[in-house]
Amino acid sequence: MKRVFITGGARGIGRAVAECYRAAGWEVVAPGRDELDLSRPDAVEAYIARHGGVLEVDALVNNAGINNIIPIRDLELSDWQLMQDVNLTAPLLLTRHAAAAMARKGWGRIVNISSCYSFVTRGGRAAYSATKAALNSLTRSAAVEYGRDGILVNAVCPGFIGTDLTRKNNSPEELAALCAQVPLGRLGTPEEIAGLVFMLGSEANSYITGQTLVIDGGYLAQ
Ligand code: NAI
Repeated sequence: MKRVFITGGARGIGRAVAECYRAAGWEVVAPGRDELDLSRPDAVEAYIARHGGVLEVDALVNNAGINNIIPIRDLELSDWQLMQDVNLTAPLLLTRHAAAAMARKGWGRIVNISSCYSFVTRGGRAAYSATKAALNSLTRSAAVEYGRDGILVNAVCPGFIGTDLTRKNNSPEELAALCAQVPLGRLGTPEEIAGLVFMLGSEANSYITGQTLVIDGGYLAQ
């Protein structure tokens, strides 16, 4: 049985990704924040050390991410650092440890959940967009460095997705305004994102690597 490690697998997009892998017969490892706090690089290293110093998995999905909306003029270095740690440093560390195990088997898949805000942005997203653009870059670097080990690394860039959080943070009017900006006229679903993640992060993918795939109902095409 193949094993996948998913960060932030308890809700939203991560939960849908976990369900997708489970339905295909994979073992899913998805530690909660109490077990693995991605905002602390030392805690990530300690988690790996507690598990034998290696992340023994066939696929890794770096899904957890935070998007604290703060304009540049008010952005404290601590806000900037927190988003760097969760959205970029944790994926780097987990990639390194997972790739070590994958390389021994000569097979592995890594999918990073980025965002369409890695290509465009809105006010208040300076830190978020910077981390996601850097995650796209890390995706390409890892694809280049680990290609000969049979490890394929890609990023998925969702547009506006109807997660619980999106619905909680936006009034019905705001949700309607978001949908009006999307050529398909609606939010994406976590299951639609999960389907693409699973395709890239499983045996279905044998030759796509180093790519950033946008899944946004056409939002960025305008
Ligand atoms: P969410 O807020 O529902 O879930 C995020 C997950 O990350 C949660 O399970 C949370 O516990 C985990 N997490 C956050 N900080 C953590 C920490 N310090 N340690 C461990 N876990 C932590 O978010 P959602 O919407 O499901 O997003 C998942 C990914 O998709 C994120 O990387 C986000 O940036 C990206 N994304 C989401 C979009 C959307 O419309 N929902 C659009 C574009 C990208």
